[in-house]
Amino acid sequence: MRIQSRVAAAALATLLAVPSLAHIERSEPIQSLRQSYFALVGMTFGPMADMVKGKIDWDDATFQRWASDLAAVSTFQVERGFAPGSEQGKTRAKPDIWLDMDDFSMKLANFRREAAALAEVAQSGDRGAIAAQLGQTGGTCKACHDEYKSKDYLYE
Ligand code: HEC
Repeated sequence: MRIQSRVAAAALATLLAVPSLAHIERSEPIQSLRQSYFALVGMTFGPMADMVKGKIDWDDATFQRWASDLAAVSTFQVERGFAPGSEQGKTRAKPDIWLDMDDFSMKLANFRREAAALAEVAQSGDRGAIAAQLGQTGGTCKACHDEYKSKDYLYE
């Protein structure tokens, strides 16, 4: 492990010294950090997509809340969760990420930009524009997943 990731792991290990932190795999705190970030992203984006598709009743205020949550969550510095050395462990993150971190960061920036735009357009109440921007945002998930996320866990 490089110094940077060792320091990051040590800092997280201190936090995790407290017993019973659900969802966090203590032996892989960095991987858990990024997976927690994407779990929040997924569980915020998913219901918005359900609303746009009519699977759940439309409600402006709720949609606006989710959209601003997604924009806020997106800005969390998940780059920490891709520290050198953390390509190992139980993960669906493909090793290619660490070979082209600039491209990965660009895809992350695209996602953050579109999520911010979604939070803004949500305020308009224009459902056509909202649906279109939700699509744009979803496109940034797909662009990254197609290249950098495996469907199955790579190492068990
Ligand atoms: C810049 C790349 C990137 C973007 C953008 C991105 N993801 Fe991901 N996502 C990943 C990677 C990499 C993983 C696998 C992390 C791991 O297993 O360590 C992941 C994992 C996930 C997971 C599984 C989390 C878990 O519990 O382990 C969900 C759900 C998810 N992403 C949803 C989304 C949604 C929805 C969006 C867009 C709104 C999105 N992601 C945008 C790269 C990205």
